[in-house]
Amino acid sequence: MNRKMMIAGNWKMNGLSAEGIGLAKEIAAKVKQKKRTCEFVVCPPFTLLNLVKKALRGSKIALGAQDCHFAEKGAHTGDISPVMLRDLGCEYVILGHSERRADHKESSALVAKKVEAAHNCWLKTIVCVGETLEQRESGKTIEVCSRQVRESLPEGSRAANVVVAYEPVWAIGTGKTPTPQEVEDVHAAIRQVLAKKIGKSEAAKMRILYGGSVKPANAKEMLTLEDVDGALIGGASLKADDFIAISDNAGC
Ligand code: PGA
Repeated sequence: MNRKMMIAGNWKMNGLSAEGIGLAKEIAAKVKQKKRTCEFVVCPPFTLLNLVKKALRGSKIALGAQDCHFAEKGAHTGDISPVMLRDLGCEYVILGHSERRADHKESSALVAKKVEAAHNCWLKTIVCVGETLEQRESGKTIEVCSRQVRESLPEGSRAANVVVAYEPVWAIGTGKTPTPQEVEDVHAAIRQVLAKKIGKSEAAKMRILYGGSVKPANAKEMLTLEDVDGALIGGASLKADDFIAISDNAGC
C-alpha cells in the first residue's frame, strides 16, 4: 500500500514570536530543497499559528494546531473552536494527545466529539493513542491502544481526514522507545482495529504515525517499518536540523 509518509512537528507549549517565526522559516527553507515525497506538518501553540502561517507562506508545509473545543463558538472561556483554526489557515489539528488526556482529563469519548467537530469544518485530525508504562508492564498495550482507537474515532473517519499517532506515554520526552518489533506489532494491531471500524480498504490507506522520543539517530529503524507511516515529533521538532534529519532518515 502506497501511503504518503508524514513528518509532523508538535511544538507543544514552546516558543515566543521571534523563535517561532525563525524556526518555521528555517524548516521551510530546508523542506524546499527536498524532493517532497513526504507531507510535512508543523503544529505550533495557538499563539503562534498566525505568525507561523505567514512564515510558511509559499512552502508546502501544512499548519496544524494542538487541540480544539468541539463547539463552533460560545461560552467556553479560554477555548478555541475548530472553525477558528480553519479561519487561521490550519489544515490539521492534533487531538487526544496523552498530555491532554492526562492534564485535562480528556476521555476518548470527548476526543471523538472534538474529532467529529474538526471534520465538520474540513480540518484533518491527528488522533493520538498510547499506553502508560503501567499498562505496558501489565501486558495491556494492544488492548488499551485498540480501545482508544475504537472510542476516539467518530463516524465519518476516513483515510482522507484522519491520521492516527501511536505514542507510548512512557516514551514521550523520556529518550526511551519501544523496540521496532514492538512498534510494528502495535501499528499492525491498530490497523486491524481500523479495518473492523472503517473497512479494510480505508484502513489500508490510513496513516499511522509513531511518536515518542523520535530522534535523527532512531528515525531510520522506527520509521521504515511496514506499518509506520511517519512520525509525530515533539522535542526534536524544535530544532530545524533535527526535524529535517529525522525526515532524511525516514526516506523523505
Ligand atoms: P517527544 O514528544 O518527541 O518529545 O517524545 C512526542 C509527542 O508528544 O508528540
